[in-house]
Amino acid sequence: MAMPATPPVRTMIAPSLLAGDFARLKEEVRAVEKAGADWLHLDIMDGHFVPNISFGPGVVRAIRGHCRLPFDVHLMIQPTDPYLATFADAGADHINVHVEAGPHLHRTLQTIRSLGCKAGVAINPATPAVAIAPVLDLVDIVLVMTVNPGFGGQSILFSAIGKIATLSEMIAASGREIALVADGGITHDVAGAVRAAGATVLVAGTAIFGTSDYAAAVAALRTQAAEAGA
Ligand code: DX5
Ligand code: ZN
Repeated sequence: MAMPATPPVRTMIAPSLLAGDFARLKEEVRAVEKAGADWLHLDIMDGHFVPNISFGPGVVRAIRGHCRLPFDVHLMIQPTDPYLATFADAGADHINVHVEAGPHLHRTLQTIRSLGCKAGVAINPATPAVAIAPVLDLVDIVLVMTVNPGFGGQSILFSAIGKIATLSEMIAASGREIALVADGGITHDVAGAVRAAGATVLVAGTAIFGTSDYAAAVAALRTQAAEAGA
């Protein structure tokens, strides 16, 4: 007898505010919420772990009152541990930390959970998927960098798509409900392939904020995902 088909997981869209207009953050976060986004992705860069500086917890706190979407904070900072409570207090719902950013990942993820946030682990393009295997039982989110972190507007590294497929299998084998996020260079041209590989959340900066119609851009990303069979 045929096994019942697993219902498809709805594709979630997470606009990255890094590509927004920093002089109009309040309007930008309101606009992407209205446009039908699922999460707001917030890229925190320190000029040390990555070669760029973005914004910090003060900005997260300032926009918190203007947006009801879950705040998906992506820490590209080193060290991370001294700042976890600050970001949770500023309004983070999810905190993603890089596997490459610290020596005690279990402790870091446990701290994030103890702060009442969802815990995410992010992985750079040059790091093999197996690096996160030991923490799959502790995370709610796996974030696959599909570009080298530090800048928006880059082109996707296609080797990352194979890694998404590997991680999707690892997550399925874990039996846990874990969001699989693709971050960097996600355009309408590649959204289908990324979704087909198993990503359930698409982060998109330029592909949304670089357009004049955010709702159309969010909808087009969903359509691409749907055409990939998701
Ligand atoms: C890169 C960031 C990404 C990036 C996405 O370090 O983690 O979130 O801003 O922007 P686009 O979609 O423009 O590549
Ligand atoms: Zn990011």
